[in-house]
Amino acid sequence: MTETDIKKGLAGVVVDTTAVSKVVQETNSLTYRGYPVQELAANCSFEEVAYLIWNGELPSAAQLEEFTARERSQRAVDDKLVDLILGLPKDCHPMHVVQTAVAYLGSVDPEADVEGEEANRAKAERLYAQLPTIVAIDHRRRHGLDPVAPTTDLPYAANFFKMVFDEVPADEVVRCFDISMILYAEHSFNASTFTARVITSTTSDLYSAVAGAVGALKGPLHGGANEAVMAMLEEVGTADKAEAWIDNALANKQKIMGFGHRVYKNGDSRVPTMRAAFEDMVKVKGADELLALYNAFEEDFVGRKGIYPNLDYPSGPAYHLMGFDTEQFTPIFVMSRITGWTAHIMEQQASNALIRPLSAYDGEEQREVPADRG
Ligand code: SDX
Repeated sequence: MTETDIKKGLAGVVVDTTAVSKVVQETNSLTYRGYPVQELAANCSFEEVAYLIWNGELPSAAQLEEFTARERSQRAVDDKLVDLILGLPKDCHPMHVVQTAVAYLGSVDPEADVEGEEANRAKAERLYAQLPTIVAIDHRRRHGLDPVAPTTDLPYAANFFKMVFDEVPADEVVRCFDISMILYAEHSFNASTFTARVITSTTSDLYSAVAGAVGALKGPLHGGANEAVMAMLEEVGTADKAEAWIDNALANKQKIMGFGHRVYKNGDSRVPTMRAAFEDMVKVKGADELLALYNAFEEDFVGRKGIYPNLDYPSGPAYHLMGFDTEQFTPIFVMSRITGWTAHIMEQQASNALIRPLSAYDGEEQREVPADRG
């Protein structure tokens, strides 16, 4: 093993196949089960895309009705989980709440360790249905508000707003959220998905794999970037301060959140769609100043470094305009990515090999313990 063989961060290393999605660096394109993500965002609901990611085909009307009825019937969480969430420190990171809730659900599911497509699909759909309820309970407890029970008559996105804010906003706002969920749902072997696959490769259970993926997604170099983008823009304040803020950040060798990507080097294929949704939100909320800051910051940084925005750059301010607390942005990412994670977990199980790479040793040469020790 020589230094040149090492691929730090597994950059550029193809470790397995997947049929769930295709990320094409050269054309900056992304397809879920063969469908371009832009077309899915323009023509489908998140429920339809969730079905597609798990089943490989878009649902018929009858299939969608059955799928959404199953999701709506599983939205409620048991009182013990509500009490567990309410009992966690109010200032803990919301991703630790999500991770705790996932581990709890695994601890009470008698089928937690039952393998096979059917059992795992049921667990995946239960998490997909209950994560919004979990995130909403955590949001409201931080505001001193009691939980709002999930409805069974509202679609996925509208129900989430109802549980968080006790009201459903304008259709444009709900649609913008639904588009963000479609765009966040799946992205091949990103760090959190690969984490889920590594855990699954040991034949551990789906809940353990998801809890690990939540941990990976929390990091600001990955899913945590959407929160960091909003905090960054709020720190910059106004468009005229962007240049000086970037000067200072780069002088301090800071990574600029929401920019750059391991795979996309000429722009993230999802950004134009999410940016358009963000601009719709700007119109609805009259947030011209935020848009001016967003544009000025992007223009300056891209102009300097030729490093382009990723999905987290437009999604952060869009979630802000929807009224969500910044710290809840990454839990919202989990609500979407649970579909991609669990599709990969089931794919890994279907054709498994323990994931165990090599390391090149660069420590002390072998030596003996001195006889006079002890
Ligand atoms: C997501 O993988 C996925 O698909 C992830 C994701 C998904 O859907 O699952 O798309 C979601 O995680 C998007 C990424 C969100 N993270 C951020 O926005 C954090 C800021 N971005 C950077 O940390 C960075 O761009 C990464 C981590 C995302 C990618 O980094 P790479 O591929 O490891 O590239 P690199 O860090 O080696 O950068 C190469 C050069 C470096 O300069 P040098 O040290 O060679 O001089 O570009 C610079 C970097 O310093 N650079 C940046 C930068 N991104 C790269 N400099 C400042 N700010 C940045 N954002």
